[in-house]
Amino acid sequence: MNTVISVVGARPNFMKVAPVHRAFRYYAGSVRHLIVHTGQHYDDKMSKVFFEDLELPQPDVYLGVGSGSHAEQTARVMVEFEKVVQQLRPDLVVVVGDVNSTVACSLVAAKLRIPIAHVEAGLRSYDRSMPEEINRIVTDALSDLLFVSEPSGVTNLRKEGIAEGKVHLVGNTMIDSLMHYMEKARRSRVMEDLGIEPKSYMLVTLHRPSNVDGKESLEKIVQFFEDFADRVPTVFPVHPRTRKMMSEFGLLERALRIDRMKLIEPLGYLDFLRLLQDARLVLTDSGGIQEETTFLNVPCLTLRDNTERPITVDEGSNILCGSNIDSARPHVEAILTGRHKAGRSPDLWDGKAADRIVSIVADTLKNITASAMNGISV
Ligand code: UD1
Repeated sequence: MNTVISVVGARPNFMKVAPVHRAFRYYAGSVRHLIVHTGQHYDDKMSKVFFEDLELPQPDVYLGVGSGSHAEQTARVMVEFEKVVQQLRPDLVVVVGDVNSTVACSLVAAKLRIPIAHVEAGLRSYDRSMPEEINRIVTDALSDLLFVSEPSGVTNLRKEGIAEGKVHLVGNTMIDSLMHYMEKARRSRVMEDLGIEPKSYMLVTLHRPSNVDGKESLEKIVQFFEDFADRVPTVFPVHPRTRKMMSEFGLLERALRIDRMKLIEPLGYLDFLRLLQDARLVLTDSGGIQEETTFLNVPCLTLRDNTERPITVDEGSNILCGSNIDSARPHVEAILTGRHKAGRSPDLWDGKAADRIVSIVADTLKNITASAMNGISV
């Protein structure tokens, strides 16, 4: 029996690991699949509700590292994860995405000579001011299996000299989850609870340091909603980082006073998916939401200067507005008057990415076991 550990840490990890966990069930006779939660995100609304909505089992191990500076958080994950790896001796570690937990666990596994599979490998914004970009580069350099969601990722990895044989274009596990739960999400009562009509509202998520950690940019964002919420009802589930910064800059009361803007707590997976499906437009700085709106063909405006997911712009419904919210204004106007580019869903975003991933992992494990039995070190 082989042991595989999948690592989750922060909100965007859970929907990427859920389909992988489901796919491992077919290999229950030969692979023991364990989930380690680092506790990078710990609030019920940032973590627990996702386990429930995505029908993930309780994590086998919870590290409880919590928040801190990048070094503190990464280091705490490393110290705790090293103990887990030494105790459980996995044959392979699966890491997903680009959060601090991803890079921390990759470093630990690499130094203990445990093979690493990275799901969502190869994405590059070419902007090292984003902490996630550093995490992506380091994780990919250390990984043995690199599972890529869009062709740009293959090109990026080739440029970095990663051996072709390690790279597998498999599609997008986040879209696996979306397809799996789309129908169930339709039964969510979130729209009724908020008193909004399908196709009438703007859905907003903003949490990147580049948008929310500076007073000037956050104030402009509040001003933007003061100007637009009259024209389009707005739903803004607020990330804890954003709420904290709004409060620190004295902007929270002002934002709460905006008529027709609902500033609410972070939503669970199914409620958020329900709102995504029927939004008139989405304004975001998230990576994953650019992909989900592309799959759903919902107009998406991304408040960033770059994206590590160019296919959402080239083929999908995403428009990169730049990091100044004022540059989003003409795009919002256009969408409200019915003008927005049509998109299409990329190849391989078909709900089967996790099946492809787990099948390749299972083959790799067989080879590792065979080599070990023959005394060959891998
Ligand atoms: C992290 C990821 C980012 C991802 C985002 C999704 C990194 C570098 N960043 O950013 O890529 O898009 O998650 O949400 O890994 N906090 C809480 N409760 C929680 C979690 C966080 O209150 O459960 C607050 C804390 O004040 C914390 C702040 O949010 O200091 C930021 O959390 P952190 O984990 O450092 O990064 P995120 O901004 O969430």
